Amino acid sequence: APSFSPIIFEAAKKYKLNIGCDIDKNPARIVIEKPFGSDLETAKDLNNKLDDVFSESQIYRIDHFLAKESIQNVLAFRFANEIFEPILNNKYVDHIQITQLEDIGVGTRGGYYEEAGALRDMIQNHLLQILAITTMNEPKKFDAQSIRAEKVELLKKVKTITPEEVKKFVVRGQYGAGAVNGKKEIGYQEEDKVENDSSIETFVAAKLSIENENWKGVPIYMKHGKRLNKSLTQINIQFKEAGHSLFNHLSKKPSANILTFQIKPDEGIAIRLVAKKPSLKLEISDVDMEFCYASAFRDPLPDAYERLLLDVMLGDQTLFPHVDEVIRSWEIVDNILKGWDKIEQPVFPNYDAGSWGPKEADNLIQKDGRNWLSHELSVCQIHPH
Ligand code: BG6
Repeated sequence: APSFSPIIFEAAKKYKLNIGCDIDKNPARIVIEKPFGSDLETAKDLNNKLDDVFSESQIYRIDHFLAKESIQNVLAFRFANEIFEPILNNKYVDHIQITQLEDIGVGTRGGYYEEAGALRDMIQNHLLQILAITTMNEPKKFDAQSIRAEKVELLKKVKTITPEEVKKFVVRGQYGAGAVNGKKEIGYQEEDKVENDSSIETFVAAKLSIENENWKGVPIYMKHGKRLNKSLTQINIQFKEAGHSLFNHLSKKPSANILTFQIKPDEGIAIRLVAKKPSLKLEISDVDMEFCYASAFRDPLPDAYERLLLDVMLGDQTLFPHVDEVIRSWEIVDNILKGWDKIEQPVFPNYDAGSWGPKEADNLIQKDGRNWLSHELSVCQIHPH
């Protein structure tokens, strides 16, 4: 439990466990699972205590999303193919969506979740890390120092939502009873170790922006929730529609190209293109070009934790967030928490188990003339969803 961390750091110091067999060649390493603090202040405080006992090169903060094959592949896709990077910027991209939907509830983790909630549990770490990997500049080298430096740089440019803006750009929700895939499910407040008038959110949707040369003006929509309609993790990059005027006279107009990275389930990448429909007339249609791990590579994907624990032993910090990333992510999230403290809380529960979340989350994106793409896009469908 996070509350034991400072006690463990101190004991490690007292019994010299922070040194290891050889402080220069093979220093001791400490691995810390999230949550790293519960807000900006506690994260800074925890870090000071940790800093007192271990140096940054000995510290491995876990964010298991970074070790997922399909997340690491975002880097390979962006920087090993020459054709995509030139168009991944505000000249060509209309907006980005980062979506992590879960059909499961809090299960046996009610006690932890009552102190965390969706914003701390998923946005502060996994979803902001995905954002950084998707939009950071190309690192000088493929090593821990360069990759972490670019992620920090990007996160610094994510515009902080002020407490006053929270109402406009962030939606929270909590699930009530309902049915997922035909099976009846209880509401969050009925879950084990959860207060029956709990005000903890199990859903967050937000609109963010990045204030740098590449991404200024490109909205970033994020969405995460528990007990939703399905389990799905996707990054969707929708391109601008300009340039199709040649076909504007047709009854079905060309839709925008979409690049989808599907992280879970059925890992893969898809590109939505427009093609001429085979017929004697001029008609166009959307087609999806897919790369699926399951068919392209026969080997099973290693588990994220398997990779992370191996990297700890090898002393490779590439897939572990640097303290500056963690602190910056807390700054972004802390402002949202402060905003929530100031405004009236929605009446919870405000979405049914098995739905897509509260209707305000649809309004958040629809008022900009867009839709949640994860509701309709499914890549490499092997499992019936
Ligand atoms: C964990 C969160 O870090 O990530 C959980 O604490 C969440 O609440 C989980 O369900 C999701 O991870 P994955 O790998 O199952 O998508």
